[in-house]
Amino acid sequence: MKLADKVAIITGAGQGLGRAYAQRLAKEGAKVVVAELNADKGQSVAAEVKGHFVRTDVADEASCNQLAAAALDKFGRIDILVNNAAIFSTLKMRPFWEIPLAEWDQLMGVNVRGVWLASKAVVPQMRKQASGRIVNISSGVVFMGRPNYLHYVASKGAVLTMTRAMAKELGEFGINVNAITPGPVYTEVPRATVTPQQREAMIGAQSIKRAAGTQDLEGTVVFLCSDDAAFITGQTINVDGGMNFH
Ligand SMILES: NC(=O)c1ccc[n+]([C@@H]2O[C@H](COP(=O)([O-])OP(=O)(O)OC[C@H]3O[C@@H](n4cnc5c(N)ncnc54)[C@H](O)[C@@H]3O)[C@@H](O)[C@H]2O)c1
Repeated sequence: MKLADKVAIITGAGQGLGRAYAQRLAKEGAKVVVAELNADKGQSVAAEVKGHFVRTDVADEASCNQLAAAALDKFGRIDILVNNAAIFSTLKMRPFWEIPLAEWDQLMGVNVRGVWLASKAVVPQMRKQASGRIVNISSGVVFMGRPNYLHYVASKGAVLTMTRAMAKELGEFGINVNAITPGPVYTEVPRATVTPQQREAMIGAQSIKRAAGTQDLEGTVVFLCSDDAAFITGQTINVDGGMNFH
């Protein structure tokens, strides 16, 4: 139980990796707040982890403020924020010159502004506590320059660089901010962002030649939220089976 009684908000925890983080953090003793746009999925994960569901749109400032208030009301403190929500599995792959403007803006609103707004909402409480952990989920695509979803790649680059600036701004308040860059991870959610041929090619490019599952990512989130990572901030941990070295 590395996170006994820590209060952890996980955004986008209704499915896929966020759901796995919720399950694992709960196993490590955390009280989990499932912050998810899809109410049915969010409620069902909250029931699985005996946590608390707050319907949240991370792109919306009032919704993020309401999330922080609800977490505080329910559990009395906020120790951990995992900025996991993103527009990802629903993305259609296409050359950047075919991406509609509205889709670009919507994605940036969730994947970039959402990380800022959710962090902005919890920081006052973390500052009061003089402690907190923020884990931002970026992506290995920032090292791969993966084609055909330029808005997504740009958004994850922003998440990585925001992590560094946030770490500098929050260090003196006892708040650590780190990023994880997962390589391709296969969850229960089907997606069009990886064709079967691309899946095989990417596994071939890894040093460890097997597909990653959610269990390969969870431990890094736990570590970054644990006391063992007390002196680590502004860093990026690349969890991709040794595909890219940077
Ligand atoms: N699966 C991978 O291969 C992979 C690789 C690298 C990085 N990532 C990143 O990991 C995270 C999770 O990936 P996943 O595969 O589980 O994605 P996913 O698309 O399956 O899940 C995303 C979740 O976020 C929620 N969400 C979307 N918009 C939201 C909003 N405005 N407010 C709140 N919640 C919202 C969705 O409803 C969904 O539950 C994402 O940040 C993704 O970019 C995933």
